[in-house]
Amino acid sequence: MNSFITFISRDSRIWGKNYSEYTNTIIPPTKYEFLNIFKTINTMKTMLLRYVRLLEYLYHYLFWEFPRGLDFSIRAKKRGITLEGNHGYALTSKKALKNILSKIPYRKLSFLDIGSGKGGVICYAYELGCERSEGIEYEEFLHTIAQKNIKILEYNEHVKSTKIDARDFERYAEFDIYFMFNPFDPDIYSEVVNSIFKQNKAILHLEREKYLICYGDANLDAVNKTKYFELLTEQKCPYRGNLYRIYKSIFISTNDSIV
Ligand SMILES: C[S@@+](CC[C@H](N)C(=O)[O-])C[C@H]1O[C@@H](n2cnc3c(N)ncnc32)[C@H](O)[C@@H]1O
Repeated sequence: MNSFITFISRDSRIWGKNYSEYTNTIIPPTKYEFLNIFKTINTMKTMLLRYVRLLEYLYHYLFWEFPRGLDFSIRAKKRGITLEGNHGYALTSKKALKNILSKIPYRKLSFLDIGSGKGGVICYAYELGCERSEGIEYEEFLHTIAQKNIKILEYNEHVKSTKIDARDFERYAEFDIYFMFNPFDPDIYSEVVNSIFKQNKAILHLEREKYLICYGDANLDAVNKTKYFELLTEQKCPYRGNLYRIYKSIFISTNDSIV
């Protein structure tokens, strides 16, 4: 911010008379100042996106969710969270999910949200056209809210929330798309990614294309180490301002192992 102010105040085209009046020169910003200005603008953009998102969520909660008895939008970053390494609950918006899914042929594929919270993403994935949508959530109170949401929307046959630690889940191979929005610490991330790989390998489903979506912070080293996924695309989410990566599975023989 300081460099931005310095840059503005040094430019006589903006202020007419100032520092340059005494020196009679316009001092161009240094490369370092330009970088700082760029960083500052980016930070301001992310902050602005955050406030816009908070207002949108509040509006959505008050006028769409609350009157129907639904609750997707209200965050639970610490309150009620019991598991060590759990990053808490925050919702991925439907438009953010739609934008991400548009990069892959997601229709008719099955979708698994790892750390599904109140079930927003699994409902959205179904609404957007995924054939089957399931979420796994460790925290009991979030899972209960998800079940209530699914019941109110009458999605019971198509959308399911299961209360389980993602490290103990044994049905990863049933799904085609794995979605993770910054759910837990890197060591848990690594265990979960390894489980996805091992379970797929065990039932010889590797010739089927699978997609891993890492939205926001992720343990990318762990993903790369499996050698099961290759990066399809890395982009910035226009709604949250964070990065997302989509990985696609590659064919692996049953003799290959995690390095
Ligand atoms: C950031 S929220 C994302 C919620 C949802 N996926 C979305 O994008 O809207 C992460 C969720 O992962 C859950 N979680 C964290 N650790 C978990 C674990 N070991 N097993 C299952 N769920 C977990 C949290 O309780 C939280 O609800």
